[in-house]
Amino acid sequence: MQKNRIHYVQRQFASQIKSIEVEMRLVSKETIQVAVLGVGFGLMHVKTLAEKPGTLRLKMVCDMDEARLEAARRALGEKAEGILFTQDYHDILNDPDIDVVDLALPHHLHLRFTEEFAAAGKHIMLDKPLARTEEEGRAIVAAAQRNDVQLMVAFNFRFAPMYQAIQKCISSGAIGQVLLGLTRHNQRFYYPGGSNWRNSKSVGGGAVIGSGVHNIDFMRFCLGDPSEVYACGVNDAKRLDAEAGAAVVFRYASGTVVNFFCNWCKSSHNADASAVFGEWEFFGETGELRIVLDKGLCVSRLDDSEEVVDYDKNATIITAFTNLWRHFEECLRTGKTPLTNGEEALKTQHLIEMVYTSMKTGNPVCF
Ligand SMILES: NC(=O)c1ccc[n+]([C@@H]2O[C@H](COP(=O)([O-])OP(=O)(O)OC[C@H]3O[C@@H](n4cnc5c(N)ncnc54)[C@H](O)[C@@H]3O)[C@@H](O)[C@H]2O)c1
Repeated sequence: MQKNRIHYVQRQFASQIKSIEVEMRLVSKETIQVAVLGVGFGLMHVKTLAEKPGTLRLKMVCDMDEARLEAARRALGEKAEGILFTQDYHDILNDPDIDVVDLALPHHLHLRFTEEFAAAGKHIMLDKPLARTEEEGRAIVAAAQRNDVQLMVAFNFRFAPMYQAIQKCISSGAIGQVLLGLTRHNQRFYYPGGSNWRNSKSVGGGAVIGSGVHNIDFMRFCLGDPSEVYACGVNDAKRLDAEAGAAVVFRYASGTVVNFFCNWCKSSHNADASAVFGEWEFFGETGELRIVLDKGLCVSRLDDSEEVVDYDKNATIITAFTNLWRHFEECLRTGKTPLTNGEEALKTQHLIEMVYTSMKTGNPVCF
């Protein structure tokens, strides 16, 4: 009895600590002030936040590259008014009014900057992938936990209406148990003379971690974690010192198999469905689900019926980023854990690591 009581008191105490922790993470100010660091792809976040979604307000934009910073200012036009543009990230770090920083930086900088901003008490939106390696990813998650700040990884596919519709179709059993999945990423990746950091493995370059991470994370969103991975990488040493592509097979304990073709070797600029959306096909026990260019998402069944799934067809990439930021806003207001929080992103990172291990050893790798 005494022992039970101690457990009860401990539990009560633990739940008090938990609610204090959650309290600490809440942002209760009228507006949530955000800064974006890095305006390569970060320009997408800048444009999204400049629309003032919900109670989120863009206060500062930083890039050490002056030309890029100016381009960001020009891209905003009149909306740039009132936003501070700076080349020195310490301006974000030292501004107590900034609640959230969006880190849109090359992969080798994710750990260093997450640690620095988390220690300054800033909540963090981190561009995908979480990190270069699982080990770095764990350090990033630990930095956020240690400093009691929220961490969300910007896996924007999960917030795009079409992708959300795919996930809903699968989880609602619209095609029955999934037997086979097929996904492709096709991209022209051509930066002559190694002029881009993504060319280089050591800073986190490579087709799988750079682009394939989206497909792998979305596969996990739909189907959960596979039990086995087999991957073959492709090199194109004249262009990249990281992999230029890979063919990957994911096997699930349920028997489901997903085939992933990740390609940075495309020569042309022409956009097929896989370049526009990433291509997805799922074949289930009772039907199949496909993205069809000009039609959208189609479900075909064994009884020969076909259904075009309804979702917001006018949605743009900005819609996905707006949804992503509104979700983070809700988490900051309520203490809710983001859908793509650090631990969730670590699981995707683990699969990336399995892919690379399989590519290196030539053997299948178990989860
Ligand atoms: N979600 C997507 O679809 C998507 C697409 C592209 C890139 N990304 C991600 O965005 C992140 C950034 O990639 P990118 O393609 O924009 O890289 P990039 O090199 O084009 O841009 C990074 C920017 O950060 C700036 N920067 C670096 N260190 C800095 C510092 N110390 N202070 C100030 N500025 C600094 C650079 O000057 C550069 O302009 C990566 O994590 C990448 O994977 C996501």
